[in-house]
Amino acid sequence: MRTPLLAANWKMNMARQDANTLVKDLMAAVGNVRDRDVAICPPFHLLADVEKLVEGHENVYLGAQDLHWKDSGAFTGEVSAPMLKDVGCRMVIIGHSERRAMFGETDETCAKKLAAAMQHGLVPILCVGESLEQHEAGKTVDIVKAQLRADLEGLTLDDGNKLVIAYEPIWAIGTGKADTAENANNTMIALRKVLAEIFGEEIAQQVRLLYGGSVKPANIAGFMACSDIDGALVGGASLKAESFSQIVNY
Ligand code: PGA
Repeated sequence: MRTPLLAANWKMNMARQDANTLVKDLMAAVGNVRDRDVAICPPFHLLADVEKLVEGHENVYLGAQDLHWKDSGAFTGEVSAPMLKDVGCRMVIIGHSERRAMFGETDETCAKKLAAAMQHGLVPILCVGESLEQHEAGKTVDIVKAQLRADLEGLTLDDGNKLVIAYEPIWAIGTGKADTAENANNTMIALRKVLAEIFGEEIAQQVRLLYGGSVKPANIAGFMACSDIDGALVGGASLKAESFSQIVNY
């Protein structure tokens, strides 16, 4: 059985004081969950603060929103896997559609980042998703399958628990217009087939597949009731302790 994972992607939001209040409230509400995992992915400048607040909460994972594939060197502005480990991260988001659209992230860079994360024992949350145009043309499954294959190029995996995939339709992110649970689940089933082709059925069954895009307290239960949806990657609704703890307690 796959343990549900509810992951918060704060994006470029939160100052230290607000983050402290949010995480304290969140830990009081859901810090001791046992039957599900929670991930909090703040911007880099808050990682050390949040780490102190989640320390000791076994099922609460600190995550970053990106990393560079090299360990160190002359890469101004970048942060590496060993640095993320050093500050207590256990997970890292890779290839979010905002990074692909605005910061030149490609399937090639995603593949390098995946390899680096895994080499250092960070669990990647790899994001894939189609545009509105691709969605309306009925190309969703083809697009995300191709993306997944390209991003996983060259990767070996001995344990499906070491990889998380987030399917996030771009048109659903921050729009308030989530995919239907049924559509999202069908896409997940297609993605899991790709994982089975690459890594074998047993490992594919272990990999957690998250849905992302306008997840809210009101729609999370519908997604979680689906056969192949194992959790959610949550943006806007993760910025308030009340809404995110309702999502965790779906
Ligand atoms: P949203 O963002 O929940 O605000 O739609 C999700 C994401 O981009 O990960």
